[in-house]
Parts: sequence; C-alpha cells; structure tokens
Amino acid sequence: MPALVVVGTQWGDEGKGKIVDVLTEKADFVVRFQGGNNAGHTLVINQKKYIFHLIPSGIFWPQTVCIIGNGVVVDPEVLINEIEKLKNEGLKVDSTKLLISEKAHTIMPYHKALDMAREKKAKQDKIGTTCRGIGPCYEDKVARKGFRLIDLTYPEIFKEKLKAILEEKNFLLKYLDADTIEFEDVYNKYTKYGEYLKPYLTDVSLVLWKAKKEGKKILFEGAQGTFLDIDHGTYPYVTSSNTLAGNACCGAGLGPSEIDMVLGVVKAYTTRVGEGPFPTELKDEIGNHLRDRGNEFGSTTGRPRRCGWLDLVLVKTAVRLNSIKALALTKLDILSGLEKIKICVAYEYEGKIIDYLPASLIEMSKLKPIYKELPGWKKDIKNIKKFEDLPEETKIYLKTIEEYLEVPFYLISIGPERENCLILKNPFEN
Ligand code: GDP
Ligand code: IMO
Ligand code: MG
Repeated sequence: MPALVVVGTQWGDEGKGKIVDVLTEKADFVVRFQGGNNAGHTLVINQKKYIFHLIPSGIFWPQTVCIIGNGVVVDPEVLINEIEKLKNEGLKVDSTKLLISEKAHTIMPYHKALDMAREKKAKQDKIGTTCRGIGPCYEDKVARKGFRLIDLTYPEIFKEKLKAILEEKNFLLKYLDADTIEFEDVYNKYTKYGEYLKPYLTDVSLVLWKAKKEGKKILFEGAQGTFLDIDHGTYPYVTSSNTLAGNACCGAGLGPSEIDMVLGVVKAYTTRVGEGPFPTELKDEIGNHLRDRGNEFGSTTGRPRRCGWLDLVLVKTAVRLNSIKALALTKLDILSGLEKIKICVAYEYEGKIIDYLPASLIEMSKLKPIYKELPGWKKDIKNIKKFEDLPEETKIYLKTIEEYLEVPFYLISIGPERENCLILKNPFEN
C-alpha cells in the first residue's frame, strides 16, 4: 500500500495524530495537505505528551521525511517554534527531515486579528473558530491576495505588496473595532521568517512524484474532520479548507491515481469543539463523564469539547465522501465502566426515519437520534495486547459498528500511548 490517506470521520480530534504516529513506523513520508495550526495532533511516547499543530505527526520516526504541502496555511512563527522545540529535544529537523512547499500560504498578523475581531463582533452567532487566522488566510488565497512562503524570500516585492494589502486590512480592522497593524513590524518579522524557512522550501509535488515512482510509502495526514469540510461539513460551522481525502491530491500536488487507499479515524464516541449542530450531543452526566474520562479539552485552544454518543449516520457518510476502505477506532478504553452504550443508527426527522445528514441548519436542528443500545463492559482494556482478550461486550460493540459501516477495522486504539494499540492489519503491509 504505497500511498495512504488518513482522515478524521467526525468533527476533528478523533486521534489522527496517534494513529499517524503508529502507522509511520512503516512509512517513508508523512504529508500534511490542508488546514494549519487550528489542528492539534497529540502523540504520547514514553509517557511524554507532544502536541503538533503544523509538523506532521511522523516526525519522531528516524527513517521518515515530513512534508508540509501547498494546501496547508502556515503561521511561520508557530512552525519555527515547533522546529526549535524539537531541535532542543535533540531531534535533527533540517531540510532533509522536513520539507515545506514553497507554494503554501502564509498566515499574516492581520489574518489572526480579523479572525478574532469577527468572532468577537458576531457574539452569539460566532463560529467558535480557533482564532488562528485560518479562514482569513484561505480567503486571501482564493482572492489572489495571499503571500506564499516563497514570496517572503523576495523582500522588495513583498514590501510593496504588503504596503498595499495593509491599507485594505487596516480599513477592515477599524470597521471591526480592532487595533490596526503597523507595516514596519510585520515586514521585519516576516522577512526574517522567510530567511529561516528558505532552506526547507521546495517543490513538494516533484518530491512526492519521484518518491511514488520509487515505490516509497507515503502517508497523508488529514487535519480536522469530515464534518468540518468547507463543502460537505455542517456549513457555516466548518473550517475553511476541504478536509476530505480527495484534497490530499490538490494539497500536496499528487494526482488521484497515485492514491492507493484511505483510512478513516473514528472516535468511539463523538466530540465537537466550537459551535454548530451535533445531533447526538449529551448535555447530561454521561456527556460530562466522557469529557472527564476522555480528557476532552481542545489540544489547540484548551476549550472543553462537547461530547455525545457515536453517530454512525455521520461516520457512514464519511466513509462515502472519503472513499474509506479501512478504519481505526480510537478511545475505546474511555467507554469502559459504562452500564449501557448507545450508537446512533438513524435520525427521526418530522416523523420520518432518515439515514443521512440534511444540508439545512434548520433541518439539522430538528433531528432526533435513533439509538441502538448495547451492553457496556466493566474491565479496563487499556493494557490488553491481543484482540481475543477484549471483553465479549467490547467485541459486540466493534462488530456492530463494522457491520453497519461495512468497512473493517485495521487498528483499535485503547489508550493514548503508542503501545496502546491493537494492529489487526497494517495497511502498509498489504
Ligand atoms: P487529533 O486532532 O485527531 O490528532 O486528536 P487530538 O490529539 O486533538 O485528540 C485526541 C486525544 O486523545 C489526545 O489527547 C490523544 O492523546 C488521546 N488519545 C488518542 N487515542 C487514544 C485512545 O485510544 N485512548 C485514550 N484514552 N486517549 C487517546
Ligand atoms: P484537528 O486536526 C477540532 C473547528 C473549530 C471551529 C471550526 C472553525 O486537531 O482535528 P477554524 O479555526 O478552523 O476556522 O475553526 O473548526 N476546528 C477543529 N475542531 N479539531 C481540529 O483540528 C479543528 N480545527 C478547527 O473549533 O469550530
Ligand atoms: Mg486535535
């Protein structure tokens, strides 16, 4: 299986980072292709926790080259901090270990300021963004007003374009009652960032094309999740990029026939950070229990995550949208100790049973989940090493999900550490 895309099937934070880290043991390249530092991907290695916002989650494996594709929006300050932190840990993060697309767009200070100012002004209508400037940066990319990382390495051209753009941005910031931004400060900082990042910049598409020809194993690491996708998510409560597996091609510069397989990551229950519809949300003690036991607080913003039962209508839709042929289930250990476990298998909408998510927010708000109730299990499963040793009730839970989705589990994650993972089949060993 030379080229594998890993995506989230819910609203993000499914445990993609952990799964990517586990799978990278057998990969030559790990590639981020969309999103930015709105992502927070957590790895726990030897009891030490690492959260990556931009660096691909395969960075700790010695044989692997990490790539940031053109579809990613890069906050250079955040990226440089991540590189420096890893270097301080003694890791080699030079231009042979990390490659960055010269075409990736740059998050500028006014993107962050606009994101924050809009959220503040919107009050109860806010999206609940991470305020990292993601939306405004993608807006400028599409409006052809953005700066790609390569543009920072041409100071004279950058200077003129920045002056012109700041006029428009400061006009907007004033309208939003936010502080305006000074040219000098941005220019000085960003030209330095350009110098720092220059050795890492390259034509990522070409590197991947050559790698594919040589039969190298490439893992594409999705950020966010299917229902945060700008087209197919719960619009407007979404992020500003296509999070679906199909975007691995555009976001890295590799054609669709080069992708061999898509693996979806499913959390054993559902969480969501920020505003927006969530049919199976639990605003009761079970919701609180899942949040406490699952430590469901945002890896990027620290906000409490909204929690609810597993929604298979959503996940089945994700299987279709992403062409998912294998699944990784995460956080199964968090369900241990519950008397009963519910899984949403359909919705009731105005007296009718439906098995899809409507496009309209009004319709979404009227959905009543229809649950299948399964027996829980008492045993702590975190240190189990073999699938056979899982409690019978856990196996019933897994079988029910597999049968509904008609896709097999390849990995079952039962704890945050690398080792807490039952690998039933490694997609790179096909
Ligand atoms: P991502 O954005 O999809 O990479 O997910 P996050 O890192 O934001 O959130 C997932 C959280 O769950 C992190 O704190 C992980 O360390 C943790 N995690 C991942 N898999 C498991 C698991 O199987 N069990 C438990 N208990 N924690 C897990
Ligand atoms: P990972 O990769 C969970 C959510 C935000 C907000 C919406 C829009 O860690 O799974 P944005 O800042 O992107 O404009 O915010 O999207 N969001 C995420 N939620 N996990 C993420 O990433 C997210 N990235 C963005 O909370 O609701
Ligand atoms: Mg996350």
